[in-house]
Amino acid sequence: MSDAALPIVPIKTGFLRAVRMLRQSYRNPLEHGQALREQFGDVVMQKTGKMTMVHLFGADAHQLCLLNPDQILSNKKAWDLIIGRIFPNGLMLRDGEDHRYHRRLMQAGFKSPVMQQYLSKMLPQIQSSVEGWSPGRDGTTILAYPKFKQLTLELAATIFLGMDLGQDAARINQAFETTVAASMPKIPVPIPGSLLWRGIRARREMSAYFHAQIPAKRSGGEQDLFSLLCRAEDESGAHYTDQEIVDHMIFLMMAAHDTTTSTLTTMMYLLAKYPEWQDRVYAECRAQSIEPVTREQLSEMVLSEAVMKEALRLYPPLSTLPKFSLKSFEFQGYLIPAGAMVVTYPIHTHYMNEYWHEPERFNPERFLSSAEVKRRHPYSWVPFSGGAHMCIGLHFADMQIKLVLRELLLRYRFSVSEGYEMPIQQSPISKPKDGLPIELVRRA
Ligand code: HEM
Repeated sequence: MSDAALPIVPIKTGFLRAVRMLRQSYRNPLEHGQALREQFGDVVMQKTGKMTMVHLFGADAHQLCLLNPDQILSNKKAWDLIIGRIFPNGLMLRDGEDHRYHRRLMQAGFKSPVMQQYLSKMLPQIQSSVEGWSPGRDGTTILAYPKFKQLTLELAATIFLGMDLGQDAARINQAFETTVAASMPKIPVPIPGSLLWRGIRARREMSAYFHAQIPAKRSGGEQDLFSLLCRAEDESGAHYTDQEIVDHMIFLMMAAHDTTTSTLTTMMYLLAKYPEWQDRVYAECRAQSIEPVTREQLSEMVLSEAVMKEALRLYPPLSTLPKFSLKSFEFQGYLIPAGAMVVTYPIHTHYMNEYWHEPERFNPERFLSSAEVKRRHPYSWVPFSGGAHMCIGLHFADMQIKLVLRELLLRYRFSVSEGYEMPIQQSPISKPKDGLPIELVRRA
């Protein structure tokens, strides 16, 4: 089929309408996506001045964009525009052979034996943190989101950096928080005092901190992620440069932190709202409460896993996935031009009636029936993306989330007040607007 024969469905937007659309898509990508698709169909091309944005809907769109045949799309060009100032050269911001090389080396930090070591280190830290969430038997209301954020940050210091940050803790935590907060600023210009400006300075501080640790990490025998990246080598003896290690570490800390916090929060909300599921998962945790905990044991927590998958379906931490077209390509009879920002919507696909029965309903059973899972389009559930850029930390996230959930459920029963609906901010990474107030009651 020649390019000329393909129809194009552009919506031309003036600057103000484009800004309004962008704000709307930022505030509520699900509603924005649903409105666009209802009006224009699965392919929507929006032109504003010289900028072209293409919105693609559905599992086939994910399949094409994530498998990325013939390298038609660039991750680097898309993400550089969004988070490139703060997270330059992170693994997600690389393409092609360069990406493959960097990903291969990074696997050193995610191999099975190391994962078991991470687990053993994490567990006592999780236990002592979660133990302190509620002092007595009476109900204590906590804000779940900041609690999870604090816990995942402390775990990152131990597992990723292999250090008790000691005197540096407050300073590095603050620098890290500022860096993450500035990753997708509303004002994308580093005006002095602005979020982006502070983020760039905070990154500089983290960068200096990591650089200073590299010689010791390279020559030592520690098994934290930072040390493993410092010593990682491929079969030809190639290894990361100091700057590459720093870039990867800063990106990894960001990639792991808010996504895991988000998932733990939405899971806790759903279990609080649906006590029958909380009881089922609690029973499973009790059955798996023998120590030492192994990865095999965690893999048997099928109910916890189904709840996690359903939470990720309803509230994917990354609701949209941006790519940039390097070449023109065809999708469903339409010509997508080169040089466009191409956006797919995991959150939208996760709510499509075409793939999900009663998509609005919380129903982890849909992940328990293997026949149903097999029948489903393989790209209808994409919270971890797919293809070459599929989340490298997904097994780590699975392990950490199950451990935290298990320790929480073994200690507490939790609930939300009658009729409570969690107000959610979907972008840049899904989180509750109110921090998620939860009542904890210590189990006898
Ligand atoms: C529930 C938790 C998590 C979710 C939902 C999540 C989601 C994602 C998504 C959607 C992408 C791909 C973006 C794209 O296609 O451009 C991604 C990539 C990535 N994630 Fe995660 N992530 C999670 C946890 C983690 C953790 C714990 C780590 C590290 C330990 C991590 C490290 C990374 C890295 C390094 C990439 C880039 C991979 C590449 O480009 O090859 N993530 N993640």
